[in-house]
Amino acid sequence: MPAVEHEALDPHRHSPSTRASVHTVYHVTAMSEALKAHSKGISQMGQSTTSFRMADVPMAADRTAGWAFFREHGDVFESNGTYFLVSADAVQFAHRHPEIFTSGPAFESLGSPVPLVPLAIDPPDHLRFRKVLDPMLAPRVINTMEDELRAQVRELIQAFAGRGECDIVTDLARLYPTQVFLTLFGMPLADRDMFIGWVEALVEQSTAESGREPTAEVVETAMALFGYLQRFIERKRAEPGADLLSKILAVRGEDAWTDEQILGLCFLFTLAGLDTVTATIGFVMMHLAKNPEVRQRLVDDPAMVGPTIEEILRLELPAPYTPRVTSQEVEVAGVVIPAGSMVQLCLGTANRDPRRYERPNEIGAELGDRGHLSFGGGIHRCLGSHLARRELRLVVEEFHRVIPDYEIAPGVEPEIVWPSGTHHLISLPLRFTPAEVKA
Ligand code: HEM
Repeated sequence: MPAVEHEALDPHRHSPSTRASVHTVYHVTAMSEALKAHSKGISQMGQSTTSFRMADVPMAADRTAGWAFFREHGDVFESNGTYFLVSADAVQFAHRHPEIFTSGPAFESLGSPVPLVPLAIDPPDHLRFRKVLDPMLAPRVINTMEDELRAQVRELIQAFAGRGECDIVTDLARLYPTQVFLTLFGMPLADRDMFIGWVEALVEQSTAESGREPTAEVVETAMALFGYLQRFIERKRAEPGADLLSKILAVRGEDAWTDEQILGLCFLFTLAGLDTVTATIGFVMMHLAKNPEVRQRLVDDPAMVGPTIEEILRLELPAPYTPRVTSQEVEVAGVVIPAGSMVQLCLGTANRDPRRYERPNEIGAELGDRGHLSFGGGIHRCLGSHLARRELRLVVEEFHRVIPDYEIAPGVEPEIVWPSGTHHLISLPLRFTPAEVKA
């Protein structure tokens, strides 16, 4: 597929309302900013009630200490008007009651003119979108993409295998999920680096000091990404293919989507489907580098790849909080939460609830698939979980097929960016015996 022309959105070509909408759409990227604001709440709460600041939570180097610090405040606690659901029971109660713990209002504060489909959509409309999307991201559909996705990850590993060293984040984890997204939407792989540049500029802004006005450059970046997605929708309408975007455009009748809804979905996928997988690849490779015995077990027995990835994802999740707003007063774990309250579902603490998990802070792959909430739960359960799991499995399989033995570069102690509403490593330098990728 020839590359699409990418001139930035021409202000003369697009009405002031489009520029304005792009400006506000840009705010969509601030999902983690909303979380940051709430974590700011914690620091205020910390300051005002328990004298701890979010920055003081020992999360950067070790999430075990970080989540234990969180758990000390009880199964449900309030900070600066925001309620945090900490226990697995409390989080799953909220998942079972989307009519009480609503998503729409939780994302409303971002002021996006395009609906964040389906994340910010509440019942009954939400089901209409999932009915169309779920079959398009089902395992049997992902199976048809596997050979292509495996070939792509082999090629990326080939690029550094002979060097004996790499940075997993920059050489693999940043690149692969974007390629998979472009493949899924039928967009040219040649646009990968440009796409990464756009998304990272927006994410960088969203994790910058909250309240910092977006620079002209960032707004232009958002307009370029928005413009690219809009033009691609027009292009797919004219030249449909076998990709997800063409399939959605082919939906007719009462289930048909508006262009705004399709744009909202594309934008959400760029936010929800790239950084999350990038972060998880980093965490999986970090834990396998730090735990040679866990690594050797999956090299010896490929059937352990899945359970090992699940356990690391249980302990290290890129999206550890999900926001909701209560539609009515509700009591959870003895705490009364007023109607209209902002609530954060703490998936990170729920995943380590000692009432649910034996040795909750350890990788217990040998204990089989003991489940976790890293993909959320209830009606908003992650739409891309099958694809994400496939990406992670292919990365682990292909990396260990070529490089079964490696270590973190001497003197490096990987840390996550902290405080932040999302968890991810900035870099992960590895050392290994130079290798040749076998066909
Ligand atoms: C390891 C990778 C991933 C993790 C940990 C993750 C995590 C999550 C979580 C926790 C939610 C629930 C949010 C909430 O309840 O408010 C969610 C929703 C969602 N995710 Fe993912 N995600 C991942 C990968 C992906 C990928 C690859 C895609 C797209 C291809 C994707 C698309 C979505 C969408 C569209 C939703 C909204 C679903 C709905 O509201 O019905 N995610 N994800």
